[in-house]
Amino acid sequence: MINKGIILAGGSGKRMSPLTKAVNKQLLPIYDKPLIYYPLSILMLSKIKNILIIVNKGQVEQYKKIIPNGKNLGIKITYAEQDKPSGLPEAFKIGEKFIGKSNVSLILGDNFFYGQSLTKNLINCTKLKNGARVFLNQVKNPELFGVAKINERKKITKIVEKPKEKFSNYAITGLYFFDNKVIKYSKELKPSKRNETEITDLLKKYLSKNQLSAEIIGRGGAWLDTGSIESFYETTNFVSTIEKRQGFKIACLEEISLLNKWISKKHIKKQIVFYGNCGYSSYLKKLL
Ligand code: G1P
Repeated sequence: MINKGIILAGGSGKRMSPLTKAVNKQLLPIYDKPLIYYPLSILMLSKIKNILIIVNKGQVEQYKKIIPNGKNLGIKITYAEQDKPSGLPEAFKIGEKFIGKSNVSLILGDNFFYGQSLTKNLINCTKLKNGARVFLNQVKNPELFGVAKINERKKITKIVEKPKEKFSNYAITGLYFFDNKVIKYSKELKPSKRNETEITDLLKKYLSKNQLSAEIIGRGGAWLDTGSIESFYETTNFVSTIEKRQGFKIACLEEISLLNKWISKKHIKKQIVFYGNCGYSSYLKKLL
């Protein structure tokens, strides 16, 4: 059972400068809420209540202004700082104490997921006891991501980070579930050509032991990327389109907590006071 999660929300956001010069990318808006709400909502939909958010050095206070400690969401949020971005597997070294003897999920702070059977699949993944599991999604431009080849039985047979030659359209998304060996394996990794340790090298360790499984996001699900200004606005448009059409918000953290029975209406009232007079509060009022 996985009941701990890490959000890696560091990074320099170079591709989005000057927007990211003063503010961390994960605090920028995707339509009506900060980007960090979306990966956090994914862990909460997975019923994970104990969450470590890793941010750049000196940025904890910025994050605490919007997500202080999770109390009003019925969850526990702790923060850790990363000196300089040196690869995604760093998360498991920084988070070693937090993870302890547990299994753990990792989500990248800039990844966006949406879809009908997502929650069911997430909860299924938290049942992982041994090995690692990744979420795969078909994309047109696999060369920009970690890529996995799967066979007819949907087993992963090959993994390459940003492949130059196309061998599969399945991108490895930034959502991972690991057993506790992830701490040991991430310490064994050597930096790649870009002088960072690679999550795909970590996954290859599990693959070589036949302990890597895949959860495939089908055509009805969306995995969007917020890596560039262009994709940032595409994701914003996606959220605004769905929210305006349905009247439901995507990644309303308080609503997820309420539906999970982690908080009561009393907490929602507190959050309305915290947010002040805005559209988000009006939505929360409807939940009362
Ligand atoms: C990272 C991972 C890559 C993964 C991607 C998902 O890429 O290295 O395997 O597909 O996140 O967002 P990066 O953002 O470092 O280019």
